[in-house]
Amino acid sequence: MEYVRVADKSELPTNKMIIVVVGGKEVLLANVEGSYYAIANTCTHAGGSLAKGSIDGSIVTCPRHGARFNLMTGKAVREAKIGFIKIKVKDEASYTVKVEGTDILVEYPKKKMMVRSAYIDQIDLCTRIVFKLYVRVGINTAQNRSPSHPAQ
Ligand code: FES
Repeated sequence: MEYVRVADKSELPTNKMIIVVVGGKEVLLANVEGSYYAIANTCTHAGGSLAKGSIDGSIVTCPRHGARFNLMTGKAVREAKIGFIKIKVKDEASYTVKVEGTDILVEYPKKKMMVRSAYIDQIDLCTRIVFKLYVRVGINTAQNRSPSHPAQ
C-alpha cells in the first residue's frame, strides 16, 4: 500500500476537518477524538463539499441537503432531504490513514480499480463493434436471399 503525507497533526485539532488532495482528488481528513479518518470530500448526492458541513462525533453532515456520513467508514447514515422528499445517497469512498511521528499519511488510491475500469470500457467497445458487424452481415445475407436477388 502506498501512502502520501497530507498534513501535520498540528494542522488538525480534535473534532475538526480539512480538505487534502490525494491522487488528484479532494479528500476530507477529520480528527475524531484524536484519531484520524479520511473519506471523499464530494457528497455522493449532488457534489456538496463535506468539509463545509458540520462534524458531530464521527458523523459529518453535508451542508447542502443534510445527508450524513460516518467518517470512520464512509457509510451513508442518513439520506439527503429536499423539502419533504428524502433521497437515498451512496456511501463515500474511505481511505486508510496512518500517523508517523507528527505526519498524517493517507493511502494513495489503488490503480487496480482504474485499470479494471479501462479494461471494462475496452470490452464494452469491442462488444458494440461485434454487434454492429453481426447486424450488417445479417442484413446483407437477408438482401441476398430476397426475391429481387434470386439465388443462382
Ligand atoms: S449535496 Fe450533499 S446532501 Fe445534497
